[in-house]
Amino acid sequence: MRSCLITVLKMLVLGLETSCDETGVALYDTERGLLADALFSQVDIHVEYGGVVPELASRDHVRKTLPLVEQVLADSGCVADDIDGVAYTAGPGLMGALMVGATLARALAWGWGVPALGVHHMEGHLLAPMLEQEAPKFPFVALLVSGGHTQLVRVDGIGCYQLLGESLDDAAGEAFDKAAKMLGLPYPGGPHIARMALDGDPERFDFPRPMVNRPGLDFSFSGLKTYTLNTVANCSRDAALSEQDRCDIARAFEEAVVATLVIKCRRALRQEALNTLVMAGGVSANTNLRHALEKALVKEGARVFYPAPAYCTDNGAMIAYAGAQRLMAGQADNEETQVRPRWPMEELPPLSQPEKC
Ligand code: KG4
Ligand code: ZN
Repeated sequence: MRSCLITVLKMLVLGLETSCDETGVALYDTERGLLADALFSQVDIHVEYGGVVPELASRDHVRKTLPLVEQVLADSGCVADDIDGVAYTAGPGLMGALMVGATLARALAWGWGVPALGVHHMEGHLLAPMLEQEAPKFPFVALLVSGGHTQLVRVDGIGCYQLLGESLDDAAGEAFDKAAKMLGLPYPGGPHIARMALDGDPERFDFPRPMVNRPGLDFSFSGLKTYTLNTVANCSRDAALSEQDRCDIARAFEEAVVATLVIKCRRALRQEALNTLVMAGGVSANTNLRHALEKALVKEGARVFYPAPAYCTDNGAMIAYAGAQRLMAGQADNEETQVRPRWPMEELPPLSQPEKC
């Protein structure tokens, strides 16, 4: 990454998100806020395979990204000449999918004579709550819960990240997706589990809360997965799972994940002596998780911030926003910049004042 001393006062940034199965494109203006935002979800393409097929994902990003760029320009009333920088997701994610976004972003930036910048997908999620009217203030603890990550991070500023704990096996979203598959629900399973859980009997099953009695801030969801599988097997021994069985299992599963996340968030805030929690990533769209965190944290004199549901899951707005902050500080790609399917967030450079990190 190139960094120069010149900082600018205002920028209009185009953001491209293509790390997995959503093509997201947005235009963010550092003075006027989010001007336009377009998303194409590939869910229908992958649903018959029960998960994301990387090659199909890449091909569809090729088809959709440029039309979505044209769409956000039309929706915002801006023209290409107005754009001051292009941000794209450079990782973590699927290699081919990342390459599509990176290639297009750099080609557009080159053609327009503006800088391009590769953004870290999880930093995008982490900063998505900043798009809301009431944005959280640093320092805070962030709970990042997506299909690929479950992390607790201390955040002292943009690029000042300290990993406090993470999942030792499946991510929370992945656990939702796998539990959904066991119940015969389509991918991605989180929203389906959440919907079925509404009709579930909370008294019927009591699923374990993984790792809550051990000290520390790491997570593990593989035991819960096995417990779910065994419960499904027990319930379907004599007859196929009934609709009520599925609702009851979904309810117990969701409650176990929510309770585990709440316990660890409260522990992280106490450990860091902070009273602000930021939650982001696909699983942060879960209504029960939001309510449970609000209820638990109010007792601690702490607050939780999260993005609007549309910005919890993958989207272009979070990439445009995160990219705009770094482009404004003079950061940009250089000839050596590569996409990174694996990329620890702590490796990101601070935005400014590194001595404070
Ligand atoms: O952040 P995201 O869109 O993509 C990644 O970066 O992984 O997160 C997708 C994950 C999926 O595992 C999906 O099942 C989960 O977020 N998810 C939910 C809900 N909405 C999406 N999990 C639980 N409850 C939801 N309402
Ligand atoms: Zn994501």
